[in-house]
Amino acid sequence: MNRTPLGFDSIEFPPDCSWIKIIDQTLLSVKEEFLIIDNIYTLVDAITKLKVRGAPALGVVSAAGIAMSISGSNGCGFNEINSIIENAANIISNARPTAINLKWGVERMICCFKKNFSPAAFNLSDCKLTLAKEAHIIKEEDIKMSINIGERALSLLKPGYRLLTHCNAGHLATARYGTALAPIYLGNEKGYSFKIFATETRPLMQGARLTAYELKKAGVDVTLICDNMVSELMRRGVVDAVLTGCDRIAANGDVANKIGTSSIAILSKHYNIPFYILGPESTIDRYTDDGDKIIIEERDGFEVTDMWFSKRVAPIDVNVFNPAFDITKSELITAIITDKSIYHYPYYFSSVEK
Ligand code: MRU
Repeated sequence: MNRTPLGFDSIEFPPDCSWIKIIDQTLLSVKEEFLIIDNIYTLVDAITKLKVRGAPALGVVSAAGIAMSISGSNGCGFNEINSIIENAANIISNARPTAINLKWGVERMICCFKKNFSPAAFNLSDCKLTLAKEAHIIKEEDIKMSINIGERALSLLKPGYRLLTHCNAGHLATARYGTALAPIYLGNEKGYSFKIFATETRPLMQGARLTAYELKKAGVDVTLICDNMVSELMRRGVVDAVLTGCDRIAANGDVANKIGTSSIAILSKHYNIPFYILGPESTIDRYTDDGDKIIIEERDGFEVTDMWFSKRVAPIDVNVFNPAFDITKSELITAIITDKSIYHYPYYFSSVEK
């Protein structure tokens, strides 16, 4: 793939990482507005409000955020820089709990700092440059990762396939192309003529607002459905495979992804439709044994009762349960496709990386 499907990168930052530019995803699909972020507090606000979201994209902005945190420091020694980085790392990695990539990006930057710098003969400009370079490398790796995932996944798909996807695991959720949407963009370039069903993805409508927007803009045949229409589509035999992203993969292959993913996996099993999870190796959490140990973010009930309605329909003060993610049990997943491999059940991601 040699172009950006939307004509712009979803995340940009200059060589010195003094700012991070994102498209404000909360305003899509109606308005394309870009935001320039120049401090970690605005970054954390953007992450918690989902102005920037999607597991791999969170990995890239968290890394750039660490580099940004020291970019304006002048005359500081090793200890001061160390504490600025520690503070930023703590604030950024706790912005959202479920996607492991957020912590992954931060940890990779801390490793880079620790490997290259010590109190003896510390050089601040060198340090700023090294961390900024590392953030750019992470972004470039993320783009390559999407291409690798796309190529691997495409080998499992046939021209003309009708594919269902949930939430947004596309260009907007990564540095470029996406995970679940990468084979779709790649197939589109090769004339595969895929037909895509995108679920709305209640309550935050990532499917309607983001997936439908980006696929349509890239000229892909996309049809929007409500979340509760999946079973009927499958019964009618018009879904050949399901592709979704992931926020965290436990060591046994259980997957945390956008709320609603596990229902689609259960339906896929019932109708004998391949259910594929796509994500970078960095989404594998080798230290968490199974999905029950993954923390699921719970968000404000306002997102369910009010956010998308011009007039509220639910009773005032009704109790609301609003988990942002769910766990899909590993036995429901036909394959986990990463940038390095295609894994099949039973999954076993050892804590010792091969
Ligand atoms: O709450 P969100 O919008 O950040 O949730 C995103 C998802 O669940 C995606 O499917 C996942 O992060 C994979 S993105 C390539």
